Formats: sequence, structure tokens, C-alpha cells
Amino acid sequence: MKKIGIMTTGGDCSGLNSAIYHIICGANKRGWQTYGILNGTDGLVAKTPQIVRLTRDVLPPEQAYIAGSILRNGNTGQDNNFERAVQTGRVQQFTNQLKKALAATKLDAIILIGGNGSLSLAWKTRNIYSDMQLVCIPKTIDMDIPLTDRTIGFDTAVSQLTRFCDDLMLTARSHHRWFVVQSMGRKCGMLALTAGVAAGASAILIPEIKFDVDKLIRHIKTADTDYGIIMVSEGISLRGHSGEPATMISRKLTAAGIANRTAFPEHIQRAGNTTPDDRILAARMADAALNAIANNETYVMTALHGDDIVTVGLDAVSSAGRPERDPNIDGLTISNATVDDDNPLLVAANNMNIYIGETK
Ligand code: F6P
Repeated sequence: MKKIGIMTTGGDCSGLNSAIYHIICGANKRGWQTYGILNGTDGLVAKTPQIVRLTRDVLPPEQAYIAGSILRNGNTGQDNNFERAVQTGRVQQFTNQLKKALAATKLDAIILIGGNGSLSLAWKTRNIYSDMQLVCIPKTIDMDIPLTDRTIGFDTAVSQLTRFCDDLMLTARSHHRWFVVQSMGRKCGMLALTAGVAAGASAILIPEIKFDVDKLIRHIKTADTDYGIIMVSEGISLRGHSGEPATMISRKLTAAGIANRTAFPEHIQRAGNTTPDDRILAARMADAALNAIANNETYVMTALHGDDIVTVGLDAVSSAGRPERDPNIDGLTISNATVDDDNPLLVAANNMNIYIGETK
């Protein structure tokens, strides 16, 4: 009998509870026990370690499709955490404390459901997990984790953002105006691109593709419509301007005589009932994570490659993609997946006369 711990870390997204639910079910079938570590690593080093036994009664299927995480995602505001340890030069003590706290749980394995910051941090501080197996499941609305075709939460975020745009499109039509919608996604434009195409946006600006504001304005002015959506990913920048990207673009449009408003869906993109696609991905990733534990794998991430779920090493994940300094933990480099120039959706968007910037 194995004891499996589950942690959700980093920003939340819809699909976390689905993954937890399926891990509980799959572990139960194997005769293993599951435990939830509350609040990520914050919970482990809290005065009383926050660890609870998980059963199907704790998370029944009718609650597993709800967004957020029943285990919460950390950021409890307590002083004893990674950010503070880095700031005060106490990283070694902090990691030792975490290792000790983990040893006390007597877990055989940890399934960490996290984004690229959490995965990079887990690899960098891998000694913490050296006495047990560490298997990660990729989740994020940003779709910026390298070496997997999909992350849990992305499909639901696309659905949320698309619905937001669908609603705006109707009022845009009534008022003959444009809405500049700012999506989340950090340095990756995949969410903006996917929801933009789904919503019928007339232009989509993403951080990976340079754009020309004058060409955007010409595109809107010569469009065969006087209303619509201009999707702007939060990671874009406009030389010589500062502030929210949607506001910068909106000002340029206004100056060119184009009636427009800005709209910010914000954290609604991380909410919403988990879509069936995300639930299925969560089930397959949970199954793959349990198989990886049964096969004695460690320091791996489950990943979708085409139709298959495989495992890839955390070392490979951490060194793939575009490196970036972590905004929260000084000295940590995280690896980002980005939208390639030849991404089929980008090519199709261009062919559908959506302005996506200056592609080759
Ligand atoms: O990484 C997920 C994400 O939602 C990004 O898209 C966004 O930039 C960021 O987190 C927002 O973080 P916070 O919830 O801390 O404002």
C-alpha cells in the first residue's frame, strides 16, 4: 500500500479538482491512500502541517468539476515561504525545513499539480523530494509549459474567454463599436489566439508576433464591418507606451477615430465549470501520474504528445522553451512555451483575414 500526497501550487485554474478526484479514484482502485497537502508548500511548513486524508466522499464527482482547488494554492500570507527565504538569504534552511516536513508525512510519492514556475522550482530544489517520488501534472490557462501539447485548465479558459467575447460582440454590434479585450497568458499568446479565433475576433495581438499599429488601424478601418473584437494578449508591448496593453491599443484606435472600449475578463478566465475536454485530460493525466508512481518513476511530468499521454523528465521541461526570470522568486529561471510562427492556428487565422501582426 502506497501513501500518495497531492499538492496544487501556483495560480489556480479550472480542472484542478477534476485531477484530484481522478487521482483519488485511481489510487483507491490500486489500494493506495491519498492525502491532500493544503496550501502547497506553505501548508507543509505551517506550525501544524496541513495534511488531510482524501477520499471520494471529500470530493464527490458532482463537486469535482467546480473551479479552484479544494486544496487551495498557497499564498497564505505566512512569512515562511520560498519568496521570503530568497529575500532573506535563507533558502538552504527553508529547503531543509521542507524536506524534514515532507519526511514526517511518510508519503511514498507526491503528485504536484503545478504551472511552469512550480515545476522549475521543484526541479531546482529537487533534493527536497529525494526520499520519495515526485510526479507532476501540468496545469495552467497560459499553455506555456514546454513539452506537452496541452495543460489542464486551458480548454476551460478558452471557453470562458470565448463566452465573454460572444457577449461583448452583441453590444458591439448594437453600438457600432469595437472592444479591445485583454486576455491573460503572460508571455504566451496561445489563450488569446485560440479564444480570439473561436470568438471571431478581427485582430489578435500576441507577444510572440510583432505588430504594426498603423496596419492594425488600416485593417480595422477597411474591414467590412464597423464592430467586433480586437483580442490583445496581456504580454504584448508597444514601444514608447506604458500601461495596460488593451488601454494602449484602445488609445491608438480612438486617436484614429475608431469607436472602441476596453474589456478585461481578468480572473474569470481561471474560473468556470471544467469543460469535458479538461475533465478528460485531467483523468488521463491522473492515470498517467499513478502509472508513473507504480513504475517507480520520479522527477517526471505527465504530458500529452499527440494522442498519447507520456512522462517527460523535469530536467528536460526546465531546459526547454524560452527561459525567463521568475517574477516572484529572484534567481529562479522558468521555461516558457510560446506560439511558433508556423503554429497551424496562427496560419489559419492569417488566412481568415484576422490581423495577427507582421508574420513572415
Ligand atoms: O499564470 C496564470 C495567470 O492567470 C496569468 O495568465 C496571469 O498573468 C497571472 O496568472 C495573474 O496572476 P495573479 O492571480 O497573481 O494576479
